[in-house]
Amino acid sequence: MDRFWKKKVIVITGASSGIGRATALLLAKKGAHVVLAARGEDPLEELAAECEAHGVQALGVPTDVADAASVRRLAEAAVHAFGHFDGWVNNAGVYMLGGLEETPDEAFRQLMEINFFGTVSGSRAALGQFRRQGYGTLVNVSSTFGTVPAPYLSAYVASKFAVRGFSASLRQELLGSGIDVCTVMPAAIDTPLWRHTANYTGWRIRPVEPVHTPERVARTLLRVLRHPEHETMVGPAGKSFAAMHGLFPRSSEHLMRAGTDTRHFRDARQGPTPGNVFQPMVEGGSVSGGYHGTGKQWLRRLLLAGGVAAAALSLRRRAADRRLGARLTHALGG
Ligand SMILES: NC(=O)c1ccc[n+]([C@@H]2O[C@H](COP(=O)([O-])OP(=O)(O)OC[C@H]3O[C@@H](n4cnc5c(N)ncnc54)[C@H](OP(=O)(O)O)[C@@H]3O)[C@@H](O)[C@H]2O)c1
Repeated sequence: MDRFWKKKVIVITGASSGIGRATALLLAKKGAHVVLAARGEDPLEELAAECEAHGVQALGVPTDVADAASVRRLAEAAVHAFGHFDGWVNNAGVYMLGGLEETPDEAFRQLMEINFFGTVSGSRAALGQFRRQGYGTLVNVSSTFGTVPAPYLSAYVASKFAVRGFSASLRQELLGSGIDVCTVMPAAIDTPLWRHTANYTGWRIRPVEPVHTPERVARTLLRVLRHPEHETMVGPAGKSFAAMHGLFPRSSEHLMRAGTDTRHFRDARQGPTPGNVFQPMVEGGSVSGGYHGTGKQWLRRLLLAGGVAAAALSLRRRAADRRLGARLTHALGG
């Protein structure tokens, strides 16, 4: 039990599986009350019981983030149960692979409804309460694919770039309001997402190594809820890809295409599937997807080295940015 988290109330969408589930369990372990949202009812009930075993209150609210009214009801249920909430994590999301020509338009649009408009609805619902309270932290989960494009992922990449841009605009609107808006961008994470994925490529897939643990993202989400940061990447691979794409966009796009062809697809054919885009899947309501630790050591080291270099560059840039930001605020009388 951590004194900071005691009596804090956090709403998490996409709580029943993977990153959301790991985050809910970590928050409960630290002493926070949690409001858990996803479409599937049974996994939410199981998770609520697991959280309550840590001595906190947990409320499961079946919610479809693609439906704005459902998201409003989630916020109302949280306030009804706890009187307030301190943080809201827009984490619900679906993954989809397929060339544009093979991907059904309705699946493309439904992915945007969940990943992007679900984040917009969640942000509106959270903001309503945050304005009444005068404080609150909103965390939107984007992805490395909110900074770097990849082939056969046009819908997913578009949704995650959109989440990142939307969050940055909202953050500017809310400057000085006491409300923080943060974006968290994980690299490949070992969750059931890879089994939930919609796939119109004709090939079975595996996550591109290195794969990081969902607990690592959960720790980052708790850190950001406690000490808000504008944008946070999780995993050295994501930092390396983002740095490489920033410096060498053309070569990195070729590398990404080759890497996807050889490393994302397995040598096994598979028919098209909508995965969990239109409805929840029964399988995979766990934290881990069972993929961790199969990475090639040389690749891990290469990406780690790239990540360290990118982090060093970004630290220097962030320090300079902070100094300039403080000067501008002062000069503009803020
Ligand atoms: N795993 C990765 O490698 C990775 C990397 C970067 C970013 N991310 C992002 O991290 C977030 C969580 O992903 P994950 O890996 O934990 O995936 P996951 O294990 O498949 O979990 C997805 C969660 O979202 C919920 N969900 C899906 N559609 C929903 C809807 N319409 N309304 C409400 N809830 C919905 C699912 O529950 P129901 O199906 O019951 O609704 C589930 O709880 C996503 O935004 C994803 O894009 C993941």
